[in-house]
Amino acid sequence: MQILSTRRLWPVLAASSLFAGCASDTGPTALDANPDSDQPTQDVLAAWLSIDLAEPPSYAAVAYPAHYDAQTLGRDNTPATNPVTDAGASLGRVLFHDTDLSLNRTTSCASCHVQAQGFSDPDQFSTGFEGGLTGAHSMRLANATFYEGDDMFWDRRATDLEDQVLQPVVDGTEMGFTDVAGGISALILRLEATPYYPILFEWAYGTDDVTEARLRAALAQYVRSIVSVGSRFDDAAAAAPNLGAPFASFSAEENLGKTLFLRPPDQGGAGCAGCHVPPTFALEGASRSNGLDLGETILFKAPSLKNVAVGAPFMHDGRFETLEAVIDHYDSGVRQGPALDRRLEASPGVPAVLGLSLAEKAALVAFLRTLTDTALLTDERFTDPFRN
Ligand code: HEC
Ligand code: HEC
Repeated sequence: MQILSTRRLWPVLAASSLFAGCASDTGPTALDANPDSDQPTQDVLAAWLSIDLAEPPSYAAVAYPAHYDAQTLGRDNTPATNPVTDAGASLGRVLFHDTDLSLNRTTSCASCHVQAQGFSDPDQFSTGFEGGLTGAHSMRLANATFYEGDDMFWDRRATDLEDQVLQPVVDGTEMGFTDVAGGISALILRLEATPYYPILFEWAYGTDDVTEARLRAALAQYVRSIVSVGSRFDDAAAAAPNLGAPFASFSAEENLGKTLFLRPPDQGGAGCAGCHVPPTFALEGASRSNGLDLGETILFKAPSLKNVAVGAPFMHDGRFETLEAVIDHYDSGVRQGPALDRRLEASPGVPAVLGLSLAEKAALVAFLRTLTDTALLTDERFTDPFRN
């Protein structure tokens, strides 16, 4: 958890001293924020953020390896109305790491979506702005752009990323900008009063207006740009003739785990890939629930399994602490219910039992560990851009 830091309070002081007397209908412009108007805008920004407007990090151009084929790239849910741009995703990165997005300036998106943890939270439930706990485990964010079902959250209640990204902000537990607290309008006034947001919005959108639609678009661009192509699985897949062939750089155990993961049960596999689709490991759009609870009616989704090994605990309520427990669930713990996916049934109404050996279970866990994308977990483009 991030704690209240002085830099988050500073903008308020700056706003009252520098902007007093500014016409409120236009708001402060980028140049107003700079007492010496001859100084380049970049210098103002540089006092706050490690982002270079002239040479922003690249988000728009992802170098996809060959095993991200046309079919895979065709599952990208980026809407034509909100393509990822370097400036837009950079603005999203600032918003994502800004504790000012919570009412009492304590909690940022990154507080609960920790890069080193695969953009999830090691705690079963995350701590919100006033110490309250979320009702679900935080979700990893890599490859959300490849979730063809589009809808977001464990229970799919958000229609897409643009719809999802401001829900934590207005949530009474997570970040606190509820209707009573003034909602998104109150957040917009706060962001307008900082020296850096008008500059960033102008850079990304051509004018310095901070609007709800622009906030949604920029945050969604940032989340979509969190793409995982650098795990050991990816390195091996890029060098292999096909995913089914044994990977030269994998151990025998990892290759056994891969075979079990990829093959359907009627071919001696565990059938995981039917729902967690390689190479993105995002969930197949039409998949249903995985039988955690008897009588389940909710159609749960899962985030991509990329980085799952650093994202414990597992499932929507973080009920499993280990990957071994996850495998035991699929082996013999699946429960019948209206939401259960047929792929997890032996026959209609009867949950499947895989009957995996201990060695096969261990192999599946070893394979899941090859999905850890260390490059992404340390990628500079997704770190906190604020200078402390
Ligand atoms: C207090 C902790 C917390 C904060 C702050 C938070 N999140 Fe989350 N996030 C969660 C939890 C918990 C879930 C799963 C909630 C659920 O499904 O009910 C989640 C889910 C998501 C998802 C859905 C992923 C998917 O595959 O469906 C996205 C995207 C996301 N958060 C982005 C953000 C962004 C952007 C912000 C900042 C504006 C943010 N989160 C702030 C805890 C948090
Ligand atoms: C019918 C589709 C389906 C199949 C087949 C399937 N899963 Fe899942 N999986 C899901 C869903 C849905 C969830 C999220 C469930 C929830 O939390 O409510 C999930 C969750 C997970 C998680 C936890 C993810 C997280 O973020 O906490 C892991 C790990 C996992 N599955 C691995 C596997 C493995 C390994 C197999 C094969 C043995 C497998 N799955 C087979 C649908 C499936």
